[in-house]
Amino acid sequence: MQQRSDLKQWKALIAHENELGDVKIKSLFADDPNRFDKFHVKCENMMLDYSKQLLTDKTMEKLIDLAKACDIEGWRSKMFEGASINATENRAALHTALRTKSDDPIMVDGEDIIPKIRKAQDRMKEFSNKIRKGKKYTHIVNIGVGGSDLSSSMVYEALKHYSDREINLHFVSNIDGTHLSEVLRLIDPEKTLFIISSKTFTTQETMANAYSAKSWLQDKLNRKDVSKHFIAVSQNIELAKEFGVNDNNIFPIWDWVGGRFSLWSSIGLSFCIAIGFDNFKELLNGAYQMDQHFLKSPLEKNIPVLLAMIGVWHRNFLKLPAASLTLYDQYLWQFPAYMQQLEMESNGKSIDREGKAINYETCPTILSGIGTNVQHAYFQMFHQGTETIPCDFIMVAKTHNSIHGHHKKLLSNAIAQSKALMDGSEDNNPHKSFTGNRPSSTIIIDELTPYNLGMLLALYEHKVFVQGIIWNINSFDQCGVELGKVLARQIIDDFGKNVKDIKTDSSTLGLMKYIDNL
Ligand code: F6P
Repeated sequence: MQQRSDLKQWKALIAHENELGDVKIKSLFADDPNRFDKFHVKCENMMLDYSKQLLTDKTMEKLIDLAKACDIEGWRSKMFEGASINATENRAALHTALRTKSDDPIMVDGEDIIPKIRKAQDRMKEFSNKIRKGKKYTHIVNIGVGGSDLSSSMVYEALKHYSDREINLHFVSNIDGTHLSEVLRLIDPEKTLFIISSKTFTTQETMANAYSAKSWLQDKLNRKDVSKHFIAVSQNIELAKEFGVNDNNIFPIWDWVGGRFSLWSSIGLSFCIAIGFDNFKELLNGAYQMDQHFLKSPLEKNIPVLLAMIGVWHRNFLKLPAASLTLYDQYLWQFPAYMQQLEMESNGKSIDREGKAINYETCPTILSGIGTNVQHAYFQMFHQGTETIPCDFIMVAKTHNSIHGHHKKLLSNAIAQSKALMDGSEDNNPHKSFTGNRPSSTIIIDELTPYNLGMLLALYEHKVFVQGIIWNINSFDQCGVELGKVLARQIIDDFGKNVKDIKTDSSTLGLMKYIDNL
């Protein structure tokens, strides 16, 4: 297959970018008083305003032409229907099946997966109700890493308003013993339930933390059998049992759910206990609503498609190396880490679906943080740095915590940032001049409810998927993280060895020996 950059629709966008020349966003507003009306879209409780982007009607037309030429609609159907779109691993990517309301069969390897999903959800419901009502366990510790940690801790924090405050949720992910040690200081061993969340049950960090937690508990409770305190969410039943989790305490996950797309499965058990199953279901319902929007809306009005194509415009035609996402809601403080995995683990690739090196840019560096804090950190560079960093602002219109005047101040700051980036300002003192013309989009959600959060998360999942299709890469594998894992295992073995027995470069050797000699 040819490169995407050989497509005539790609070339048309290059020519169009040249034609636009040094057009200013501000002048696009001056030329068209209806620009906001034209360039905003609403879907239920969510609105996207992309009028402050450096683009015109023609740009959008050409971006949609490119999306069509890359067969977004065809790939979208394939994903929802369960085709093996994760070709390197020969797997489907069916996170959408986890939130479907329909009982129509979805077949994977000749088997309908819907009954399995419903059964797992029933178990989650029963189990979370039991823990919430019984209060036998008031500390829940999720041990997992990457997709088995980031999304769960993000959702827990985002929906804390809905959580049972008598149940304390903790997350341990890092292999750094400090992470586990600091959590162990906070918990009461008798009243603690550990959830080992690992699809493979082989991930080094998770296994090291799980075994250390188990031996800590055995010591504290002065007994060998601590199985009542351990739950597993895994596909690897054998290893979970070998660890000491009872058969009926193992919740399923399947190979057609990718790690960073797994919060909708039993991987979400920890936060499901905290917020309750009804709220968990609402989260799924919101995601389902976004799935329907993504499936049924015309591409021109399709929020995930629009966000994705604007990102492609930035990366491949305006040649912008980074993109930013700023969240104006304190409850979303864990969103940046989740988002970085979603975007960069999915689309940080340079080999196409056919195995060829590609000759165009893919995933930008994602900078993300919480407003207003980041305004006092890296936003200086956004306003006056040498690079243009396109910004996405996410605002939540109604707060759960109304303290006199705070929320209006927060929202004013968000809107002010997008205006300052666009307008800039001139000053006789060059240090105080802002060039402006820096593009941004704003998403407003009415309120941070489980339903609306579900919509937001599914929106970004689909945005990442669309970009993966445009770039002709597989967004669902993560081969790039493997080499480091292999080398770390080798380096553990090399620590403490004689220099002459270690075959490596002088820097790697120097680092090991420096530590050995301390
Ligand atoms: O970082 C690589 C990765 O495979 C992620 O994709 C995944 O979410 C994480 O490790 C954890 O994997 P597991 O759930 O198998 O422990």
